[in-house]
Amino acid sequence: MKRPILIHPDPRLKKLCTPVDDLSDELRTLADDMLETMYDAPGIGLAAPQIGVLQRVIVLDCVKEEGAAPRPLVMFNPQIVASSDEMSTYEEGCLSIPDQYADVERPAQVKVAWLDRDGNAQEEEFDGLWATCVQHEIDHLDGKLFIDYLKPLRRQMITRKMQKLKRERARA
Ligand code: NI
Repeated sequence: MKRPILIHPDPRLKKLCTPVDDLSDELRTLADDMLETMYDAPGIGLAAPQIGVLQRVIVLDCVKEEGAAPRPLVMFNPQIVASSDEMSTYEEGCLSIPDQYADVERPAQVKVAWLDRDGNAQEEEFDGLWATCVQHEIDHLDGKLFIDYLKPLRRQMITRKMQKLKRERARA
């Protein structure tokens, strides 16, 4: 089931999310809903707080090539266990901050540990867009948005645009 995506500014997007305990059917349904919501948007990543659930769950699929097989990843309690010194810059966006993009610099490679949909421990090294995306989504679980990396003036400008967008949507 598709879920509505919260738009910044929203207090739920600023919260520290709690780790997941036992993997229940409810949590698996949450992850499936998140994937459906992400693909529908369309986006390449989504974190649970973006649909108002303050638990440490993210989904992502950064396969971009036309016709390539999708690679949906569900991560419960994802943790960055190692980061490269090498940095890379990507123009980031966020489904909670529609139509706004900005360059963000992050470690170019990260090793991530997580529990998969079946509760198995996984660990993998990501680079390129996958590395950026997984760091962006894990940030969401700590109440951090990509605009928090920007200079205050730029951040305020984007926030004002989003406030205006929310007012317009509320009236519609
Ligand atoms: Ni985001």
